[in-house]
Amino acid sequence: MYTQALDTHGKEPVPPVAGEADSHAARFQARIDEEEKIEPKDWMPEAYRQTLIRQISQHAHSEIVGMLPEGNWITRAPTLKRKAVLIAKVQDEGGHGMYLYSAAETLGISRAEMLEQLLSGAAKYSSIFNYPTLTWADIGAIGWLVDGAAIMNQIPLCRCSFGPYSRAMIRICKEESFHQRQGFDIMIKLCQGRAEQKAMAQDALNRWWWPSLMMFGPPDADSVHSAQSALWKIKILSNDELRQRFVDQTVPQADYLGIKMPDPLLKWNEQRGHYDFGPIDWEEFHNVIKGNGPCNRDRLRTRVQAREDGAWVREAALAYAEKRAAKAMKEAA
Ligand SMILES: [Fe+2]
Ligand SMILES: [Fe+2]
Repeated sequence: MYTQALDTHGKEPVPPVAGEADSHAARFQARIDEEEKIEPKDWMPEAYRQTLIRQISQHAHSEIVGMLPEGNWITRAPTLKRKAVLIAKVQDEGGHGMYLYSAAETLGISRAEMLEQLLSGAAKYSSIFNYPTLTWADIGAIGWLVDGAAIMNQIPLCRCSFGPYSRAMIRICKEESFHQRQGFDIMIKLCQGRAEQKAMAQDALNRWWWPSLMMFGPPDADSVHSAQSALWKIKILSNDELRQRFVDQTVPQADYLGIKMPDPLLKWNEQRGHYDFGPIDWEEFHNVIKGNGPCNRDRLRTRVQAREDGAWVREAALAYAEKRAAKAMKEAA
């Protein structure tokens, strides 16, 4: 448990001398400009800490909730090999969540507090996981598009200024690239299969394409906090830059598969050297973020149920640890 009285974790101190806060802030920014990593016990502005807690915990929640749509297909994977791969992937996502909760804990918030925020519905997580997985092709589309978008988002964050987050990103990105390839491999098999299988792949692409583009967040013009986060190097590239990179990378992959993005306005722009694409339905995005997506309630209900079902395991583990500690004390006495 985090004990604030014993460990300030670099919390912004009350400056003993007037002007001291400014010099702390100037030194802090200079370290970031020099590409030096900020570590948990270093001095940091309170707003930097809070922004990172929000960003890292939302990321952790997304990994944990992200296990649900794919977990839904473990029992129905078409072959033993596909089942084993999918189990490994879903486990990886759970590991990413744990890793990121640990990184956030170094900033002075407890895991229990973060979980409470998730289960009460107060915390946000990636909008994409509130869409249902209707067919096996959705598992391919998620790996290909959702993990692909996650990598696009996360690779720049390997250079983020906060040490524990940047190190977590390096490790997580390695696994995400396996996830992306396994998704694309499912799509290849379906697209080389019977007409019905290819139609399934196309249908999954139709449903997952736009939500994948929304994963990069609102347009730059509407994003709050962006300028400050860029200065602090906790956001390296803007939402629109990342989205464009993702579109440019993914369209040739769809061409290879022989399926089409559901966007009549999608077109290579010779002059810009990028693909132009149609408008995103931001109303849908905000609706899903607010909790009104097709699966929001279902996802939270499942997480709450999992916590309730696991209560006896936590209680038993705690009782066992206490018993062992008491025995060790008795033996040492
Ligand atoms: Fe992940
Ligand atoms: Fe992943």
